[in-house]
Amino acid sequence: MSASEPVLSVRNLTVEIGTRRGTARVVNDISYDVHRGETVAIVGESGSGKTVSALALMRLLPEPPARVGGRVLLDGVDLLRGSERELCRIRGHRIAMVFQDPMTSLNPVLTIGQQLVEPIRLHLPLTAGAARDRAVEMLHLVGIPAPRHRLDDYPHQFSGGMRQRVMIAMALACDPEVLIADEATTALDVTTQAQIVELVAGLQDRMGMAVVWITHDLGVVAGIADRVAVMYAGQVLEEAPVDALYEDPRHPYTTGLLASVPTPGIDRPHRLFAIPGLPPDPVALPPGCPFWDRCAVRGEPRAEFTPQPLRPVGSDHQVACSCAGPAARHG
Ligand SMILES: Nc1ncnc2c1ncn2[C@@H]1O[C@H](COP(=O)(O)OP(=O)(O)O)[C@@H](O)[C@H]1O
Ligand SMILES: [Mg+2]
Repeated sequence: MSASEPVLSVRNLTVEIGTRRGTARVVNDISYDVHRGETVAIVGESGSGKTVSALALMRLLPEPPARVGGRVLLDGVDLLRGSERELCRIRGHRIAMVFQDPMTSLNPVLTIGQQLVEPIRLHLPLTAGAARDRAVEMLHLVGIPAPRHRLDDYPHQFSGGMRQRVMIAMALACDPEVLIADEATTALDVTTQAQIVELVAGLQDRMGMAVVWITHDLGVVAGIADRVAVMYAGQVLEEAPVDALYEDPRHPYTTGLLASVPTPGIDRPHRLFAIPGLPPDPVALPPGCPFWDRCAVRGEPRAEFTPQPLRPVGSDHQVACSCAGPAARHG
């Protein structure tokens, strides 16, 4: 694989979910690439489709009620086309995910050791003893004190931060090429949050892993990501290198999001900004730009708005907005 080829390439991913109220278009034609050693952050308000898109690309959404379209290429192989058997060999091994809720993702009736050793034995050619050693090594790596003793403990014997570390150890146990971390630090206090961020970055440097860092908090992204994709109502509205996104945001939604988080180094004389209104209902998405109702710089009327494709506005910088001119910050 050449350095310029992405290890993970998400192409035109769509997810529709059948509900009693009708079909919800939850992920609407998103595309992004992640290169080896790179971190791409997927940022957006709660409900914007971040988790569903991650589950879809891991092929973890039950179909039906979900219907998944597009392509998800891992080193050129489409995960959405392979057999479930092939997927089982890849998932947890070459691409792994830290799930949003560690409290419910760990099995309460199995020890941490049992839960760690199982995927290691499934994917790596190790004896039971060697797999146990590997589990100890992983717990040590994620900063769990006295790991050999902790292997026989159950999840409830760990604090929230420690459980999150265990989840990360499980995801990293088989040296994945791609790690998807879905709100991996959201439930944690800021100190633990910072430790986990540092931990993943350190491991990434050592293992060359690519990371998709999913969060609703644009504030944490600055120190983590190389590139950022801003999601809204199932679409990517802006994608840019992290510095460009902070210094020269082009989409009115991105400027609104940035104004609503305290950003170090940027003076804000006024109170933090809150974008008025609510995201659209995925069962009844409006035609054209999904952000129009809440947009501070929108053109009138909506009927003139056709769906906005992402278009380049700078080096590696794309935006899906017809009125995205020079940045105009709120707040
Ligand atoms: N099983 C489901 N059935 C119907 N709608 C769902 C289901 N799961 C998620 N959704 C909807 O999909 C949208 C995106 O959800 P999600 O991906 O969890 O958002 P995020 O992770 O960005 O907070 C939301 O509108 C949510 O209500
Ligand atoms: Mg989520």
